[in-house]
Formats: sequence, structure tokens, C-alpha cells
Amino acid sequence: MRIAIVDDEQDMRQSISQWLALSGFETETYASAEEALKAIGPDFPGVVVSDIKMPGMDGMVFLKRLMGMDSSLPVIMITGHGDVPMAVEAMRIGAYDFLEKPFNPDRMTDLAKRAGQTRRLTLDNRALRRELSDGTVLMRKLIGSSPVMERLREDILDLGQADCHVLITGETGTGKTLVAHALHAVGPRAGKPLVSVACAAHDEAALGALLFGPTSEMQDLPLVEQARGGSLLLEGVEALPQAVQARLLTVIEDMGMPAETRIVAICNAPDPDTGCEQALRPDLFYRLAAMRIDLPPLRARGEDILTLFNRFGDEFAEEYGTDAPQVTAQEAAQLLQAPWPGNVRQLINIAERAILQQRRGSGTIASLLMADGEETGAQVTAEGKPLKEYVEAFERMLIDNTMRRHRGSIAGVMEELSLPRRTLNEKMAKYGLSRSDYL
Ligand SMILES: Nc1ncnc2c1ncn2[C@@H]1O[C@H](COP(=O)(O)OP(=O)(O)OP(=O)(O)O)[C@@H](O)[C@H]1O
Ligand SMILES: [Mg+2]
Repeated sequence: MRIAIVDDEQDMRQSISQWLALSGFETETYASAEEALKAIGPDFPGVVVSDIKMPGMDGMVFLKRLMGMDSSLPVIMITGHGDVPMAVEAMRIGAYDFLEKPFNPDRMTDLAKRAGQTRRLTLDNRALRRELSDGTVLMRKLIGSSPVMERLREDILDLGQADCHVLITGETGTGKTLVAHALHAVGPRAGKPLVSVACAAHDEAALGALLFGPTSEMQDLPLVEQARGGSLLLEGVEALPQAVQARLLTVIEDMGMPAETRIVAICNAPDPDTGCEQALRPDLFYRLAAMRIDLPPLRARGEDILTLFNRFGDEFAEEYGTDAPQVTAQEAAQLLQAPWPGNVRQLINIAERAILQQRRGSGTIASLLMADGEETGAQVTAEGKPLKEYVEAFERMLIDNTMRRHRGSIAGVMEELSLPRRTLNEKMAKYGLSRSDYL
């Protein structure tokens, strides 16, 4: 926690600073309110201690300015001895507390500690609220720069603003649930509830009651009510029993357009045509599928395989305290050729096991892929890819890795890969890599 100490008297500044530094605060001192205002912003991670009587801007005006900028910033005012009206006025403007001169250093420390705790809570809450309503956090979770992924991001941003219901299809592990959450978070519904239900996990009567009521003792409100104004995620919509489909249709029709609650139907059937379209009554299907997002299988976006593998490899390496994985050209080719029936989820799983293997110093990525293939039967066969695609994916991975290791230092990357600046810049532009992402 930082403490900004504002006082025109140097002795005073220094002694307060010393006391508080002894209690573990990071102190900074300012000789005038004007100077302090330049350094303190709305999310200032700390507490302000200010004298009232100062030449130039006095402490009361300073306090007003701070409160106008961030009304929950704790400001401790130092008042003259017996100056009760001043102290009262400071509290009225929004001071956290006041100390009368001469004051006991322990009292100052206690006050600063309490104010610091309050501040931390405020800032944590703010960060949490921002993260929840900030779709960019979820958008950043969506890794991949293949053209399909770029389009997917645009679709999410567009559809996030729209009011229509959305149907999401795709093989298992392609990111349907992640995308559904992103859709909610990037739009005007972000601050509203997101309620999700696994359709296959309940029988007809239970699902009907869960969604529309009457509710059991365990549940206050039917899910349709809970989701009002927000999004209702139907996971595995193809499993909706007929009777529930009929009730859902009525609810949708009653809402009219624009819909108050957005329904995001997630189809988990491998083939949406037979698995989803046939399982749902047509009037319901066409309402839910007003807009569609089809997530491609991982094997269809070769460019992303190595990027994802590295990104998750890095994360697991950090988690397990080992080095980031170094993928050889041969391993890269194997990753690109694998059929990935479990898509991104399977890839995350393999990346984790690769890190654990590396830590033990045994095993290869190929053996992991093989073991997975045998387990799942891997009916899907990998398509051969043109050599160019392998080479480009590998090149991109190397530059991406090296940039990360050098934290965006172009000079370091030029040297390690023996690349002239211009070639490096060209390649980075080609692969959509931007230096600012590594700083
Ligand atoms: N493009 C992506 N970038 C980063 N992580 C991803 C991406 N796509 C999916 N993931 C991650 O992969 C895992 C599987 O994704 P998710 O659960 O959304 O898939 P799903 O299609 O809903 O799977 P299922 O059909 O089994 O429900 C999650 O951990 C998710 O965060
Ligand atoms: Mg899912």
C-alpha cells in the first residue's frame, strides 16, 4: 500500500514518512497539493495524508479535488490543535478521518492501516467488477490468429451487441461454452445474470420445473426468471424433451423481439444437422438458430495448433515451476498432423502432460498423441497439409516463443534467430504478431 504525504513543512513530511515506512508502507512525500495532484489518479493504490494549512492550494480544496476524482479514496487530514470546525468540515467533504496536531505516531499508523485495508477492498471490488463486465478479458482468453478465429472474434463482438438468440455448434472441446460466455460478456448484458443449464442432466419433469417452475425448496426462482435481462445458456440443447421444448417456445414467443433474455443454445451433437435440427421442433429450432456460430474443429485451423500448444505449455510450465516447452520441428509436425478429436480441450490436456513429462525428463509428445489416439479410437483421420502450412506454423511458433523469451526486445530476437530487422518485422506482420503483446 502506498501512502502519499502532503505537507509544506519538510520536517513534518519526513517524520510522518519515517513512522509509516517503519510499519511497512511505501511512502511518497509532496511539498504541495498541486504537486501531489499530478501523481495521484483515480485508482491510486493507497492512502493520502494531508496537512490542511498550506500555501497555495490548501488542504480543504485539495480534499475536494481528490473526492471529485475518486470519492472512496481514503484521505487523512491533519488539523491544527483544537480546530474543531475545520475537522468537521473535512469529514463532511469526505475525509476518511482527521488527526489533531500534535498527534501520537501510533495513532497515525493505526489509522493508515485501517484506511489501507479499506482501500484494498475498494480496489479489489473494482477490479473484479471490471473483469466481470469487461468482455476483453474473455476475448483475450480466446487464442488463435487463424482467419476463422479472427472472424469468430468479430462475430462475437457483433452478436454480443445484438438481441437475437444464438445457436452455437461445434465438436466437443472446440470452445462452445467459452464463446457463449464471451458473447454474454462483450454486450450490454454483461452486468446481468448468466444462467446455464445442462439439458441432458435432468429428466423431463425435473428440467421443466428447473427452467419454468414450480420450483423446489432448493431453488428460489425458475432459471428463466433468474436469467431475466441476461443470458440463458442451454448446454446440450439437442437433449431437450418435447414437452420442455413446447414450454420454451411459449416463453420465447411471450418475450417477443427484442428478446428480454437472450437464449444461447449450445448443440453438443457431433453433427448439428442430424443431432440438433432433427431433435428440436422446427419452430423452436429456427427461433434459437436466428444467428449461428459454428466452431471449426482444431484440425481445420492448423495455424492455431502450435500457438495454443505453446501458450498452454507456458502456463503449465509456470504452474509446475519448470521451463517452457521447446517444441522441435518434428514434434511440431506431429502436433499439426494429429487428428485432435477432443479439440482444444485435448490439446490443453496434452500440453499439461508434456510439461509433466519434461519435468520427469522422459517421454515424447508423439507418445502422448499416440496414447490419446488409442484411447479415443481417433476415428477422425488427420488430413495431410501442404508443406507450406507446416513451415509457416513452425516459423510463427519460433518467432512467438523467442519474442516472449526476450519480452519484446526486437534486438534480442534478431540476434537469437539471426534475422535482419526488416525480415523480422515483415514476418511478424505476416503472422499477426505485435511487439506490444510481449512487453
Ligand atoms: N480458442 C481458444 N483459446 C483458448 N482456449 C480455448 C479456446 N477454445 C477453447 N478453449 C479452452 O478449451 C477448453 C474447452 O472449451 P469449451 O469447454 O468451451 O468447449 P466446448 O465446445 O464447450 O466443449 P463440450 O462440447 O465438451 O462442452 C476450455 O478450457 C476452454 O477455455
Ligand atoms: Mg461446453
